Amino acid sequence: MASIRILSDTLISQIAAGEVVERPASVLKELLENSLDAGASSIDVSLAQGGVKQIRVTDNGQGIDADDLPLALARHATSKIATLDDLERVRSLGFRGEALASIASVARLVLTSRLRDARHASALRAEGGQTGALQPAAHATGTTAEVDDLYFNTPARRKFLRTEATEFSHCEEVFNRAALSRPDIAFSLRHNSRVISHLAATDLPRRSEAILGAEFAAAARPLMEQIAGLQLSGFVASPNYTRSSRDAQYLFVNGRFVRDKVLTHALREAYRDVLHGDRHPAYALFLAIDPTAVDVNVHPAKIEVRFRDSRAVHQFVYHAVSKALAASAANAPVAYAAPTETSRLGGIAGMKQGSLGIAQPVASYGAMFSAARTAERMPLPSEGGTDPSLGIHRGGAESPPLGYALAQLHGVYILAQNAKGLVLVDMHAAHERIVYERLKSALDAHAMALQKLLIPVTFNTDRLDVTTVEENQETLRALGFELAPLSPTALAVRAVPVELAAGNIAGLARAVLADLREYGASRVLTERRDELLSTMACHGAVRANRALGLAEMNALLRDMEETERSGQCNHGRPTWYQMSLADLDKLFLRGQ
Ligand SMILES: Nc1ncnc2c1ncn2[C@@H]1O[C@H](COP(=O)(O)OP(=O)(O)O)[C@@H](O)[C@H]1O
Ligand SMILES: [Mg+2]
Repeated sequence: MASIRILSDTLISQIAAGEVVERPASVLKELLENSLDAGASSIDVSLAQGGVKQIRVTDNGQGIDADDLPLALARHATSKIATLDDLERVRSLGFRGEALASIASVARLVLTSRLRDARHASALRAEGGQTGALQPAAHATGTTAEVDDLYFNTPARRKFLRTEATEFSHCEEVFNRAALSRPDIAFSLRHNSRVISHLAATDLPRRSEAILGAEFAAAARPLMEQIAGLQLSGFVASPNYTRSSRDAQYLFVNGRFVRDKVLTHALREAYRDVLHGDRHPAYALFLAIDPTAVDVNVHPAKIEVRFRDSRAVHQFVYHAVSKALAASAANAPVAYAAPTETSRLGGIAGMKQGSLGIAQPVASYGAMFSAARTAERMPLPSEGGTDPSLGIHRGGAESPPLGYALAQLHGVYILAQNAKGLVLVDMHAAHERIVYERLKSALDAHAMALQKLLIPVTFNTDRLDVTTVEENQETLRALGFELAPLSPTALAVRAVPVELAAGNIAGLARAVLADLREYGASRVLTERRDELLSTMACHGAVRANRALGLAEMNALLRDMEETERSGQCNHGRPTWYQMSLADLDKLFLRGQ
């Protein structure tokens, strides 16, 4: 074995560069962070060949003093912290003082900068870790960092680079994260001299739309929650706008984009109840937290963080997001958007889950309903007002969000008319959600209302089910059931939850017993709870092919308006769609 020796500074930087400078996008990330830390209000990025040939970032920030330029390139040299105390309360994105040194060790770097009052700018060139002499240069107040020929001196690393298109897309993602984190800053992005993105300073809603697209913006629900030391703001997309991958999930902690297990888990849990199968939610969320309560120095690239009280953060984020998602059909503050797959719409273009009167204040709906309720008056479709020229009812301003039922289609769908046009409701899916939410509230309040059956429903089963009934009377009661053994192999159902009395009673009882057998009473009431209630709701909800009268259908529509999460059934499928008159006109090529 060779004798021990101290590594050269350049080699140390090259080793460190392995962690910080993984690919062109990681260089871009470090340069953007420096510009943000410098207080820039405008940042321009120019890339060549996916960033491998060149990455240039120009900002109008505070600039670097000419005398400090050599220090900026030195390892462990930073203007951002000086003591351990500073580190613990750091608010800047950078603080390790190693990015520029690492980059300079594996590329050709030119740093050009000018302080506000300096007579001219200065430039410093470094190549493979060797720093040149300070040169006078032309530059407005601010800084340009230009990185050419990444890995020119480390061919082994060059081999890990992917195609130009792949490297560029990683750079673009890094650019988008920075742009999303600071809507108040103007950004531009060029690739091979082509303008890819030009973003003027704006507010978060507009910046999110520019980065995440109009469909996201239409489905976005604003969120703003605050408790001592924690604030969460931003947008979560309604569960009807989902993605097949995690590509639209943006989480920022104190302005820093992070991938954090605690936060991601809290989000997944919050969406669990409303998200269909293997779809992924979309969100842009900003967590502000006391810097001393979070450690950002976990990883050189600082993409991971560690919360001092991760349980509290989890709880807070979970509740804030659940609340934003729980908005019922009636008080959804922002438009529901149609699913992105047009195929699911059977080719009918423009069919959307409607936005429910964004213009009208939420409170007016509430007032309207309670007034209608106390008068015990079931409004008729014709009350929406008639447009004589068309001979159809146009729901007036008085009509509730989901309108009034017109008819039932093939025993599956409810057709209703509201102010906008036609509303289509999947009767079973909608009712299932309503029943499910009611069961949850009732169980939470230990107030499951029982409905005694006039004639008990009996069914044959096995001995184990009968013993399960004998051993779990209390749990069954909590769940709203009264069951009694008739013989060693037969059971009688004497009472069920009110909500479920119209359903398939024997099937319901069997499903509950199966769960009790499999998981035991305590788990059934805790971790299995939502799943069991969801199964129960499914048994109790109106089946397809059951004829409903107009009054029943209208009652269902009113219930939907007041039920949380009623836009999706318990399995995350949409429960209703809006087709506006304009959509219908388009379908019939009217006025074209
Ligand atoms: N765009 C910039 N504008 C102003 N100062 C900069 C800029 N980029 C780098 N610097 C200065 O160079 C120093 C070193 O940068 P860097 O190596 O990225 O380390 P860090 O950001 O962790 O401090 C910074 O602390 C800052 O003083
Ligand atoms: Mg930095």
